[in-house]
Amino acid sequence: MSSLQTLSSTISRLSLLRKPLFCYTFKQRTTRPTWSSSPLKLSSLSNRFFCSKNYGQINMSSKDDLIVLGIETSCDDTAAAVVRGNGEILSQVVSSQADLLVQYGGVAPKMAEEAHSQAIDPVVREALDKANITESDLSAVAVTIGPGLSLCLRVGVQKARKIASCFNLPIIGVHHMEAHAVVARLIERELQFPFLALLISGGHNLLIVAHNLGQYTQLGTTIDDAIGEAFDKTAKWLGLDMSRSGGPAVEELALEGDAESVKFSTPMKQHKDCNFSYAGLKTQVRLAIESRNIDGKIPISSVSSQDRSSRADIAASFQRVAVLHLEERCERAIEWALNIEPSIKHLVVSGGVASNKTVRDRLDQVVKKNNLQLVCPPPSLCTDNGVMVAWTGIENFRMGRYDPPPPVDDPEDFLYDLRPRWPLGEEYAEGRSEARSMRKARMHPSLTSVIQASVQQQS
Ligand code: KG4
Ligand code: ZN
Repeated sequence: MSSLQTLSSTISRLSLLRKPLFCYTFKQRTTRPTWSSSPLKLSSLSNRFFCSKNYGQINMSSKDDLIVLGIETSCDDTAAAVVRGNGEILSQVVSSQADLLVQYGGVAPKMAEEAHSQAIDPVVREALDKANITESDLSAVAVTIGPGLSLCLRVGVQKARKIASCFNLPIIGVHHMEAHAVVARLIERELQFPFLALLISGGHNLLIVAHNLGQYTQLGTTIDDAIGEAFDKTAKWLGLDMSRSGGPAVEELALEGDAESVKFSTPMKQHKDCNFSYAGLKTQVRLAIESRNIDGKIPISSVSSQDRSSRADIAASFQRVAVLHLEERCERAIEWALNIEPSIKHLVVSGGVASNKTVRDRLDQVVKKNNLQLVCPPPSLCTDNGVMVAWTGIENFRMGRYDPPPPVDDPEDFLYDLRPRWPLGEEYAEGRSEARSMRKARMHPSLTSVIQASVQQQS
């Protein structure tokens, strides 16, 4: 069954619908909705809702009392968290697949799915226990529905639907990259839309203007690999310990090296846009490793001090250029973003690679030079986590973007609404790249376009 068959979707806060079909009525003191439709009606509907008009029925003063469970399984971390509407993090649990990463040198979808399936129940249970609540205290469940590996996404979505149906809870489908950006608003309460965001992870390198929740313009993306992938491969080829993923290992080793010693060239100098490329830098790293006769199969812990120092020089030089590429693109993106939205005051930097201190320090300088402010979540909220999903769920819930509880049992052949390839927004005209436009097949319409269409159909 194809995960791209989204038309028979299940979680569909973003689906197109002429009129809200469902009506929530909220109790005054708790923020738990009660459903005005009968279960019979529920199952007879196609499960496609966009309930913005009904949000007015929620008691506004009780918004802070929302308690949302967030579930994240889009890649190699099984994560869950419980967050309150006022931003209080009640719990956060992450189970990473470090051993699999070490074994396979990357994410193997089938193995990752298996690991998620084993971890999901205990991770969610621990998140609820640590928050000192039970499912019946929840106001809603938020879950990542894309982008990501469909086999992995499915595990989280199934779990979320199970809880939502058993406890009669609304469910919110979350865009993983929107969550990376929006979690910055939990950290920095002054952070208002619009803002500029650089989202850097294992699979994505995005520069976006966040006009509003669910409204994004993509200034740039990678034409091949993301920066996190380049960190991971560099770590592997240098024989580093991948148990915390490659990035932290390269960062640590880079501290020992001379960042000017290996002359890597900065990618895409000749392209005056905001797109990224890390495939060429990866090749440069591989060639440098080969030319120095470094054998990555020998772990760094057992090599001579000379070999170690040679590896450290490569790590430091790679990191310098990888970050320089970010700096150059951010400089241009700030210019473009201020043309589009002159009121922008912040650059948000998030995603796993934003945990890197050099990334944070260098981008802080770029931002200051341009009289903006950097907002970078703490490392535990930069790498994949359940808090960002719960918080994005809360933000969407407040906008009325959620679905009603699913029916109790999904049939065996149920088609889940999973969106493995799902852009955040449309490309800014000046940022288009031929290379990427060739690869648009099987892409879900962007989050922004789906929300816009829903809003238009509502009015
Ligand atoms: O956002 P994330 O946790 O998962 C994805 O959505 O991909 O990002 C994971 C990526 C990995 O490639 C990892 O090596 C990288 O983030 N990463 C880092 C650091 N911590 C994690 N890269 C560089 N420096 C770090 N300290
Ligand atoms: Zn991520």
